[in-house]
Amino acid sequence: MVIMALLLIFLLCLSTSLRDTAALTRHDFPKGFIFGAGTSAFQVEGATDEDGRKPSIWDTFTNQGYSFDKATANVSADQYHHYKDDVKLMRDMGLDAYRFSIAWSRLIPDGRGEINPKGLEYYNNLIDELIRQGIQPHVTIYHFDLPQSLQDEYDGLLSPRFIEDYTAYAEACFKSFGDRVKYWVTINEPNIDTIGGFDTGTLPPQRCSYPFGVNCTVGDSTTEPYLAAHHLLLAHASAVSLYRDKYQATQRGQIGITLLGWWHEPATNSSQDAAAATRMNDFHIGWFMHPLVHGDYPTVMRSRVGARLPGLTAEQSKNLVRSFDFIGFNHYIVLQVQADKREFSQMQRDYYADAAAIPSQFEHIREGHLDDAPWALGKLLDHLRLLYGNPPIMIHENGFSDTSEVPGKIEYDDDDRSEFLQDYIEVLYLSMQNGSNVRGYFVWSFLDVFEFLFGYRSRFGLCGVDMNVEGRTRYMRKSAHWYSGFLNGGELRPVSPSAKAYSAA
Ligand SMILES: *[C@@H]1O[C@H](CO)[C@@H](O)[C@H](O)[C@H]1NC(C)=O
Ligand SMILES: *[C@@H]1O[C@H](CO)[C@@H](O)[C@H](O)[C@H]1NC(C)=O
Ligand SMILES: *[C@@H]1O[C@H](CO)[C@@H](O)[C@H](O)[C@H]1NC(C)=O
Ligand SMILES: *[C@@H]1O[C@H](CO)[C@@H](O)[C@H](O)[C@H]1NC(C)=O
Repeated sequence: MVIMALLLIFLLCLSTSLRDTAALTRHDFPKGFIFGAGTSAFQVEGATDEDGRKPSIWDTFTNQGYSFDKATANVSADQYHHYKDDVKLMRDMGLDAYRFSIAWSRLIPDGRGEINPKGLEYYNNLIDELIRQGIQPHVTIYHFDLPQSLQDEYDGLLSPRFIEDYTAYAEACFKSFGDRVKYWVTINEPNIDTIGGFDTGTLPPQRCSYPFGVNCTVGDSTTEPYLAAHHLLLAHASAVSLYRDKYQATQRGQIGITLLGWWHEPATNSSQDAAAATRMNDFHIGWFMHPLVHGDYPTVMRSRVGARLPGLTAEQSKNLVRSFDFIGFNHYIVLQVQADKREFSQMQRDYYADAAAIPSQFEHIREGHLDDAPWALGKLLDHLRLLYGNPPIMIHENGFSDTSEVPGKIEYDDDDRSEFLQDYIEVLYLSMQNGSNVRGYFVWSFLDVFEFLFGYRSRFGLCGVDMNVEGRTRYMRKSAHWYSGFLNGGELRPVSPSAKAYSAA
């Protein structure tokens, strides 16, 4: 009997180790694991001037010509008029889920007050169509596109009034769509929205101050990013409390927040750079994760930012702790970090000076592609497991961009994209074997969209969109066929040596 048991154990071990080297399929992921793809409202809908929608700060920014090629999202992929075709394409591909966002100024054009019946109708139609085709809607409530009216009225995120208006808007979403939407994200990437909008001034509302940003007419890079982030955190907690108190028991959905998940590595082996990379991960990820798990900003931020970092009352802190059912992460790149040895006085530092860190992109991550560093996703997931109690994670964005000479030009062949996605899905699997609590994976993007600063030069879509014809024709790229094959049970290529080397490390 003992021998039999030993033999059985031996065979079991053999089969798990074989599993690691054989090709993976989606059936190797836990039952209920969600594979999807995503977009966001401003980037995909178009129809910016139709049926009562009013401008967001991104309309203002793009109409002033700040995006690449002075591109606007006025039409973009025109999903507003093509949502049925898109949902059919999703079904044909076999997606479990579609991640999209609601345009605040389409649903509530003035930011607060009356609901726009046409906006309500559009999102009801989209959600109903998804459900009819068996695709779960995963909805982001706020994805960068603040109504311009709230920016004009009280400087948007800089005012605590944002919290109240945001909560009312979130409630309108729960009330209108929560019978069908079972996954809500309160806010997308607050950890970059605040830096771009209030420190470097490169994103709307383009606030910054010398010497940290360029060409801003107003702003204060030393204080405003922290204040904007603070209000976003409190708005998140407020919407989650409301959902839990009034809607969750009957609607039975889950709610979370989605952060940008850059990973930071030291540029050299020096202990100063190692410390700088750790600080940068605390400033980038810990800025939000620490309050959400421990109820306050990270210690290193408290000590380095000092009085410029807003305080949290006991009550606010209590509302923040565990105010999520999952955390979303958008993961793309790894940055290499050098310690910043310049001297700034305490009151004259921005976020990066506070972190005393200079992040930059690696020059050679791997031959061919700069962004292809799947091991960094493994490190990010390890970090979340070890530092933040292994929360349930959704990878809400991960994807590969190529650029076109002619904006929006048709391109079918994208084997690089399929390779990229396989590399990351492999690491995801290995991290989960290692105990990471990942619940879903969404490719960015379902189709080509308006890529914020990069306009239509940058293509992330599994499906392409011919941006140069009026009907915005969709077509499946090779990667869409590849993903579809995987979703229908097809094999990933065998686990690559680089991924195995990572898992053995
Ligand atoms: C986009 O829409 C805005 C407002 O509706 C308009 O002022 C602008 O001219 C449009 N831009 C382009 C390139 O069509
Ligand atoms: C700042 O403004 C100057 C002068 O208008 C312009 O040449 C430069 O490109 C601007 N820089 C950025 C980053 O927008
Ligand atoms: C760091 O040290 C390791 C082993 O000592 C070496 O292989 C590696 O090249 C060093 N890296 C850098 C960036 O100096
Ligand atoms: C597994 O976890 C260990 C310790 O936490 C870590 O060193 C290793 O890199 C992880 N491997 C993978 C594949 O996540």
